[in-house]
Amino acid sequence: MAEPRPRVWVSQPLFDDIVERLGEYCQVTAAAEVAEYSPAQIAAALAGADGALVTLNERIGAAEIAAAARLRVIANVGVGYNNLDIGALNAAGILATNTPDVLTETTADFGFALLMATARRITEAERWLREGHWQQWSFSTMLGADLHGSTLGILGMGRIGQGIARRAAGFDMRVLYHNRSRLPQDTERECRAAYVGFDELLAQSDHLLLVLPYSLQSHHIIDAAALAQMKPTATLVNIARGGLVDEPALADALAGGRLAAAGLDVYEGEPAVIPELLALRNVVLTPHIASASLATRRAMVSLAVDNLIAALGFGADAGRPPTPVNAAALAAAGNAAIGKTAAIKR
Ligand code: GLV
Repeated sequence: MAEPRPRVWVSQPLFDDIVERLGEYCQVTAAAEVAEYSPAQIAAALAGADGALVTLNERIGAAEIAAAARLRVIANVGVGYNNLDIGALNAAGILATNTPDVLTETTADFGFALLMATARRITEAERWLREGHWQQWSFSTMLGADLHGSTLGILGMGRIGQGIARRAAGFDMRVLYHNRSRLPQDTERECRAAYVGFDELLAQSDHLLLVLPYSLQSHHIIDAAALAQMKPTATLVNIARGGLVDEPALADALAGGRLAAAGLDVYEGEPAVIPELLALRNVVLTPHIASASLATRRAMVSLAVDNLIAALGFGADAGRPPTPVNAAALAAAGNAAIGKTAAIKR
């Protein structure tokens, strides 16, 4: 008898023409509408699945996979995967994959756009104009901060950070960065970026961009003490994860004139934004759209589908998903989740 096709859960509507590829190998249950799931609903959806295609909205940990006896792979549509408890997935022998590279340049473009909008007060100026405040051209209207000739600090110098550094060269900015590990000298030269310690980065940056992964170690890395080390004229931009910033402390610094402006694409409790930030005029707020160009969002879904198909043992890359997250940990644990055929795991 033919083996049953693996069952795959697709948690949100993505691009139908891309997700359709899963149907060649798997039985697919896909959400028809954008959905917000309770932990119990996620657990129920995963309980009968061999694979899942999820977004950063779905938080998956030990409780959600407790009844997922067949689950072999979770393909996350996103480069960040802090919505997944990798320790719990490792313990259960479940592979996680993400979507790096395909979103690097689009996200770096957006980081720069948000920086420019924030430093030059673009959205604030537009709001002011639309509200009918513009009575006469004046020299002192909406004075902002220059990008050219300024010092750009980048916290987190992975692929996206490097993309931002390359763009900054075109604006004649001095680029400083801090990262867990220093980049090779060739890469530093190519990015025209100099490595500094965290405190120095805070103190010297005219504009500070956050592009580092969120983890327990980086939780609230920008807190009241870090903000106090920044120049009062500085701009802070966060395109990584909301949990990197202590938002009430940021709102306090912005309201008290201890920081000039902030551009935020991500929030600790998103989609909720704290009222203290919403009330401020010197903050540009966008709804987590840094990778949201049509081409890039399609490429992310396509890569996630490739990962799922390969991890379930099908297609040209059977057993070799292109961008695994925890393959090394699973291999070290002697787990054979990768490289298996489509056979059901347990
Ligand atoms: C989006 O935030 C991503 O991690 O891809």
